[in-house]
Amino acid sequence: MNNKITFVDMFCGIGGFHFAFNNLGAKCVFACDNNKYARQTYEFNFKDIEPELFENGYFAEDIVKVDPDDMPDFDIFCAGFPCQPFSTAGYRKGFNDPNRGNMFFEVLRLIKAKRPRAFFLENVKGLTNHDNGRTFHIIQEKLTELGYSFHYKLVKGTDHNVPQLRARTYMVGFRDETTEKSTFVFPESEPLTCTLSDVLGGKCDRIAARALMTMGWAKRIDSPFNWSVYMVDGKEHLITVDESRRLMGFPDSFKFPENMSMSNRRIQLGNAVIVPAIQATARKIIEYIQTADIA
Ligand SMILES: C[S@@+](CC[C@H](N)C(=O)[O-])C[C@H]1O[C@@H](n2cnc3c(N)ncnc32)[C@H](O)[C@@H]1O
Repeated sequence: MNNKITFVDMFCGIGGFHFAFNNLGAKCVFACDNNKYARQTYEFNFKDIEPELFENGYFAEDIVKVDPDDMPDFDIFCAGFPCQPFSTAGYRKGFNDPNRGNMFFEVLRLIKAKRPRAFFLENVKGLTNHDNGRTFHIIQEKLTELGYSFHYKLVKGTDHNVPQLRARTYMVGFRDETTEKSTFVFPESEPLTCTLSDVLGGKCDRIAARALMTMGWAKRIDSPFNWSVYMVDGKEHLITVDESRRLMGFPDSFKFPENMSMSNRRIQLGNAVIVPAIQATARKIIEYIQTADIA
């Protein structure tokens, strides 16, 4: 892979995108997150890998305050942006900036200003039918208006050999091409050879975990909202933080700062992206940029 491919990691959390692109030889040149604890974990993991990121203001906090002139140029804009409803009605009626502060419009503002070669956005499964599809329609429309193609796919952890369901909407686009003419394709699914039993170290009643969440960890096994207790070797087992890390596909080298509370560790993992799933699409984006000759 070409070492010169650069990316930004917006809403970086604990760095799921960063690990994925880093594994492909790409370089992170700017990141932002406004959560104090996620920032500590991010810096703890990446300060040796990418020291320049933590100098010169390249590790920003609130995206709303990010001035594109303060960002270096880069090839790929990555963001797992928080899903907030926005005013499609206000937007349609042309109200003056009705969605100021909405995270999607911050994404749009920075893509418009920096014009990277590609974007890679991630969001919840329900994004595509939120507000009867109107939210997703506007997202698509605004990005294509900027001169980007727009592709999307629902991707699960189990599609990339990680035994967690966690379906997410991946959105990818390339500068100066239309969706119709674009030849980009998402990666094929891979066989699931690693099961929940492999991660939890005993025989489980399920092949894959439900999506890890951020809150309410200690659920009973018979609760309809249980997502953290599984039957392992015939006994109830509450998944540990380290098992959760593996269920997100984060590398063994990933560490939390020692003083990070258990609840913050669980929240941060529950907010993250599945690294091998992101990496499979990231590989296709890098290959496409290199072969489709997007200037
Ligand atoms: C869904 S999580 C993204 C997790 C990340 N992709 C990962 O792998 O860990 C969304 C992140 O957006 C951050 N966030 C929310 N509002 C923000 C803002 N105004 N500026 C910067 N970051 C923000 C949250 O702190 C959270 O870490």
